[in-house]
Amino acid sequence: MQIHTGIITISDRASKGLYDDLGGPALKKAAEGYGWKAAAEALVPDEIRDIQRAIREQINQGCQLILTTGGTGVALRDVTPEAVREIAVRELPGFGEVMRAESMKITKNAILSRNLAAVVGNALVICLPGKPSGAVECLSFVVGAIPHCVEVLQEVPTSC
Ligand code: MTE
Repeated sequence: MQIHTGIITISDRASKGLYDDLGGPALKKAAEGYGWKAAAEALVPDEIRDIQRAIREQINQGCQLILTTGGTGVALRDVTPEAVREIAVRELPGFGEVMRAESMKITKNAILSRNLAAVVGNALVICLPGKPSGAVECLSFVVGAIPHCVEVLQEVPTSC
């Protein structure tokens, strides 16, 4: 299934050019490795409105899956979960549960992770850690559920 995938790097410093965005390219490579089409990329600061605008833009561009990296930590500037929850129609808690459980085997800091997945419009949005290796690792932990979830979300609601 050719899943049209949007990638959003959420980082004050990368968006100001203070350091390179490594997470976005790492996720693009991972997505292509899964056979998906990396259809859109964005780099935004840790600002709720910018995050929400980037998600909406990628949905309007036809993205069925949106992967964000960054802003899921404990720092006061980390607002990705708040931004996504505000515009989501529902959260899919299993993704965050599995990402944290599996990441605990790698780093005890996984407890600090506010990673999540939610449905925005008809797209699956998965919020991953900012560290490139963490983002790719967490994606690998939940990749098995993504094709079916995207397929269900694309189904035209049957008239009741
Ligand atoms: N999960 C994995 N698999 N690998 C990681 O490096 N980083 C942890 C956690 N989960 C990490 C991880 C850390 S240090 C934090 S603060 C939280 O993810 C949130 O990371 P973020 O603030 O970069 O989004």
